[in-house]
Amino acid sequence: MRMVDVISKKRDGKELTTKEINFFIDGYTNGTIPDYQASSLAMAIYFQDMNDRERADLTMAMVNSGETIDLSKIEGIKVDKHSTGGVGDTTTLVLAPLVAALDIPVAKMSGRGLGHTGGTIDKLESISGFHVEITNDKFIELVNRDKVAVIGQTGNLTPADKKLYALRDVTGTVNSIPLIASSIMSKKIASGANAIVLDVKTGAGAFMKTDKDAENLAHAMVQIGNNVGRNTMAIISDMSQPLGFAIGNALEVKEAIDTLKGEGPEDLTELVLTLGSQMVVLAKKAKTLEEARKLLLEVIKNGKALDKFKVFIKNQGGDESIVDNPEKLPQAKYKIDVPALTSGFVSNMVADEIGIAAMLLGAGRATKEDKIDLAVGLMLRKKVGDKVEKGEPILTIYSNRENVEDVKKKIYENISISDHATKPTLIHEIITK
Ligand code: URA
Ligand code: CA
Repeated sequence: MRMVDVISKKRDGKELTTKEINFFIDGYTNGTIPDYQASSLAMAIYFQDMNDRERADLTMAMVNSGETIDLSKIEGIKVDKHSTGGVGDTTTLVLAPLVAALDIPVAKMSGRGLGHTGGTIDKLESISGFHVEITNDKFIELVNRDKVAVIGQTGNLTPADKKLYALRDVTGTVNSIPLIASSIMSKKIASGANAIVLDVKTGAGAFMKTDKDAENLAHAMVQIGNNVGRNTMAIISDMSQPLGFAIGNALEVKEAIDTLKGEGPEDLTELVLTLGSQMVVLAKKAKTLEEARKLLLEVIKNGKALDKFKVFIKNQGGDESIVDNPEKLPQAKYKIDVPALTSGFVSNMVADEIGIAAMLLGAGRATKEDKIDLAVGLMLRKKVGDKVEKGEPILTIYSNRENVEDVKKKIYENISISDHATKPTLIHEIITK
């Protein structure tokens, strides 16, 4: 087989065989196919698309390009949740103990944050002692015993995707539905999930800026998952403004505790219940989404979800007393209110730019090497649609430096106040198959 023929075939809009797709991925991973040919094929796929069969084949070829995590020693159906990334997205911190409280195994592999979105591991590390550097055996033991554990990214998972994603990044081929969908799904499948719930974000803070694009991506991923034997569901949720009130590591841990108590922000709570219900159904602990939601509300109400959070923290070396005494979490030196300059209604909060404002304080990394400050971040006091009086705080800056003029400037540039505003719809669509 010659790579030039594979490229020409796709360029002309023809369907690639399983063998051709495997030839490409194997050759690209081991270096016999050079970057220029891979980049040419990526561009051909960008323009000519792939059908469902090709997408499933591409996904599995990338899964098989490296190691995979074997979770078969964990009893039960392992359901994983994946979000395409958002600002102040505290859902994983809440969902992990919440779903585990229903005896559903949550074996979570997580990463650190980069850019305007935060990573789950960074957030958890704001709990003193908490660590994710545990052995695979320990990870499996914890999930079997207490149903929940988080481990850092280990092993050489989907090397083909790593190489291809980096190449796409510099060749104008990131924004292709078959390439994005197979990239995301290959990583989920390689990390051992039997079933997958996807939260595809839409809006300013999201990878997909329009509903149409988000919808296409969600459908593509659900299709791939189900075609390769992983029950998969998705939702499309709003990321035009940040999620919840807290943006920043320790602040989001506190927000997760509140939400597990049933006292969290309305939007975060609703998102957690929507995604959680899908996880419960996929784990076959409930027949319908309504039944699943009832079960989740029950463990919030009776305290089991919060207790599970304590067990989870303690198991991974963390100080679980922060759950009852959140003031023990890292605290910022300065709390600076940002007042509204006019009266009216908050009509826009550009999510990604607000995320960058939090990053300027040190809550996130601009480059992989940056060290982050776990204490700092932003607490929204108003959300889009809320009424505000001139002089009333729209949000509070939590900072370890006194001068935050740069952060304030960014915030004022990206929050609008108008005569009227409507609250955005949080859940745009639920996709079950
Ligand atoms: N995120 C991924 O993991 N892969 C893509 O291709 C795009 C976003
Ligand atoms: Ca939040």
